[in-house]
Amino acid sequence: MAERYVMSVDQGTNSTRCILFDHRGRLVSVAQREHRQHFPRPGWVEHDAVEIWQNLRRVVPEALSLAGIDTAQVAAIGLANQRETTVLWDRRTGAPLGRAIVWQDTRTAPLVEELLRHPGETFFLERCALPPSTYFSALRIRWLFDHVKGVEQRARDGEVLFGTMESWLLWNLTGGADGGLHLTDATNAGRTMLMNIHTLAWDDELLDFFGVPRPMLPEIRPSAERYGETRALLPGIPLTAALGDQQAALFGQTCFSPGEAKCTYGTGAFLLLNTGGEVVRSRHGLLTTVAYKIGDQPPAYALEGSIAVTGALVQWFRDRLGLIGSAPEIETLARTVEDNGGCYIVPAFSGLFAPHWRSDARGVIVGLTSYITKGHLARAVLEATGWQTREVVDAMNADFPVPLPQLKVDGGMTSDNLLMQFVADVLDVPVVRPMVAETVSLGAAYAAGLAAGYWPDLEVLRRNWHRAAQWLPGMDAEQRETEYGDWKRAVERSLGWAGP
Ligand code: G3P
Repeated sequence: MAERYVMSVDQGTNSTRCILFDHRGRLVSVAQREHRQHFPRPGWVEHDAVEIWQNLRRVVPEALSLAGIDTAQVAAIGLANQRETTVLWDRRTGAPLGRAIVWQDTRTAPLVEELLRHPGETFFLERCALPPSTYFSALRIRWLFDHVKGVEQRARDGEVLFGTMESWLLWNLTGGADGGLHLTDATNAGRTMLMNIHTLAWDDELLDFFGVPRPMLPEIRPSAERYGETRALLPGIPLTAALGDQQAALFGQTCFSPGEAKCTYGTGAFLLLNTGGEVVRSRHGLLTTVAYKIGDQPPAYALEGSIAVTGALVQWFRDRLGLIGSAPEIETLARTVEDNGGCYIVPAFSGLFAPHWRSDARGVIVGLTSYITKGHLARAVLEATGWQTREVVDAMNADFPVPLPQLKVDGGMTSDNLLMQFVADVLDVPVVRPMVAETVSLGAAYAAGLAAGYWPDLEVLRRNWHRAAQWLPGMDAEQRETEYGDWKRAVERSLGWAGP
């Protein structure tokens, strides 16, 4: 019988990727397409959901043909996705109502201020374990209701559907306007501010508060179970997993036990620590989030430190400043100098997320003198990622009784050795990267394969994890703490820049 594979779709902030994995968790083929980023106004970030669906329609056959396999050899499909990005579409025609509003978009900042005043942060923390922030989807739904005529009423009448990217793609894959399934999973629903963190169901008080009608919401399902089969694109392949991309990476890194953590370095960086069946409430600016829910087993939870801008700062340095031609060149440029020359960049492009949660922060560059070259700026760009990781790890260590013994990393930026060494230095713990750095895709594949019986249990998956690289800390403690102090002063400068 022909070998079978699991297909994983990672619908990320910048691109849509399809990867096929074999039984040993090895990558067999990859196809990827970027989509356009729209910045119609300062602070606004949008995607075209139709372009993303079209990209998926292309990468799936490309991945199959690169691997030289046919559809019948695909055992199951799992989806991972950029979280919080909000799409509304017409149930009857399948057409989106305007562009998707991306997780980095800050247009809802005035609403955040209102929510902090009334009903206040505690109201939300108790129900959904998230602080009011421009980051989450419910505020975007409210914004659309308030700014696009007629949408609220149409949503009440059941004509308009809401989803994050996994809902949009699942709906299209299962038939779209012709009877598509309208689903989400608990890891994604948990990022809307509408799901109760304890019951994993839509919360009536939160729905009432935001004025979001139930008919527009997808059904919340486990992250791994058989949802249905593809009807568009591929005929009859089981769709058996959907997870937010960061939770997928935690799963792909096989962080199945409480106390295990990973950090994924992509557009932003997201450090998740598995806290087991316990809903740990952060006192230090982290989010409590669903890590995964496998079938009818109880959910696993995580503490999350979300950093909005890491790789996106390198992109900005490349595309907006034009100081490098490609992202990997940042390391070469940074190596032209010994240190940052006293320069720090706080990339608060979308305000600051964990642990600060300040929508009013904006980016700053401090410490400029005529001595500073583009090499120093390149270093400051990379170091910003290191210092932001340090802030989040400090919060984790304060919230969770066992300090992190090491950090598992993955994502595009982990190919930058200078950066990974800097992360190990500023955390003062070893940093390790697995053989398969595509852990978001791998995690979605693992969840899908478990639900489809392709893999029997978590232990088998654990045995697939192999270390590919390690960086050991080597920075002098005094230097580390002095520079961390400078970073913190730079962060202070960024706060309040956008005004109340
Ligand atoms: O919460 C946002 C996150 O899911 C986006 O991840 O890797 O697509 O930038 P990424």
